[in-house]
Amino acid sequence: MKVVRSIRQMQKIAGSLKTRGKTIGFVPTMGALHKGHLSLIARARKENGVVVVSIFVNPAQFGPHEDYLKYPRPFAADKVICALNGVDILFVPAPKAMYPKGYLSYVEVEKMPDGLCGAFRPGHFRGVATIVAKLFNIAQPNSAYFGMKDYQQLKIIQRMAQDMNFNVKLVACPTVREASGLALSSRNRYLSEEEKDRCAVIYGALCAAKKIIKKGFSSVRVTGFIRRKVLAEITNARFDYVEVVDASTLIPVKRITMPAVIALALRVGGTRLIDNMAVNI
Ligand code: PAJ
Repeated sequence: MKVVRSIRQMQKIAGSLKTRGKTIGFVPTMGALHKGHLSLIARARKENGVVVVSIFVNPAQFGPHEDYLKYPRPFAADKVICALNGVDILFVPAPKAMYPKGYLSYVEVEKMPDGLCGAFRPGHFRGVATIVAKLFNIAQPNSAYFGMKDYQQLKIIQRMAQDMNFNVKLVACPTVREASGLALSSRNRYLSEEEKDRCAVIYGALCAAKKIIKKGFSSVRVTGFIRRKVLAEITNARFDYVEVVDASTLIPVKRITMPAVIALALRVGGTRLIDNMAVNI
């Protein structure tokens, strides 16, 4: 496995792989790799000649009071994990190279970031769309792999790639969970073991909610049900939101009659967790 830190070198390598007819599968990450990331890497490995993983904790997607400085950066362990899982190129650019002095250009998707996480993290999806567009220009992938755990992010990236005419196939990968049902996340390492156990209720509540939706319950009743169930178990939790939204536009729905997604974000102590569940009627 080759570790590449220079943007120009990564572009050169990608260009020459493409002229040699190799397909590039790309998995962008912020590191602190877990089995969720590994599922994306495995899929990319299966479908491409060359697998490129990027690790970059992107300052542009963190708010001023968020965990940019505290975000875990276990690079040595991540490097071993990548090498053992069939990654060919690990791209690790420096923040100063990605956003040099005088940097002024951003990619902004309209409307889709207005609700859900975007409402609580102003500027977050502008940072995400910008870094993903930049990484696509650098790694020049044929296919790029994203997790459904970050559902709003996935939909915004799909919109951005289509609107900006990126010739990249986007592959959506299912959420990988602990045996308890808790969605894997790099931020789970901020939780105590007891908190983690209690957080299993989030998935339990989503599964139960899916059942009552199928019985014809309205969005308000479903989201109220989830809030009560979760708060009864995780007493130090505070919800940012629980909503039922249209699966493609992300617009909240009142009566659930279309492919929908139940999406939620909550804070457990200082840790922000998100999860979602697709509902197809
Ligand atoms: P990060 O949180 O490191 O996640 C990288 C990729 O792994 C994303 O596509 C995310 O949806 C996926 N992922 C995370 N947890 C997962 C799980 N439990 N199951 C399946 N997939 C999972 O998301 C980001 O980084 C950044 O915003 C990024 C896209 C890299 C832009 O900076």
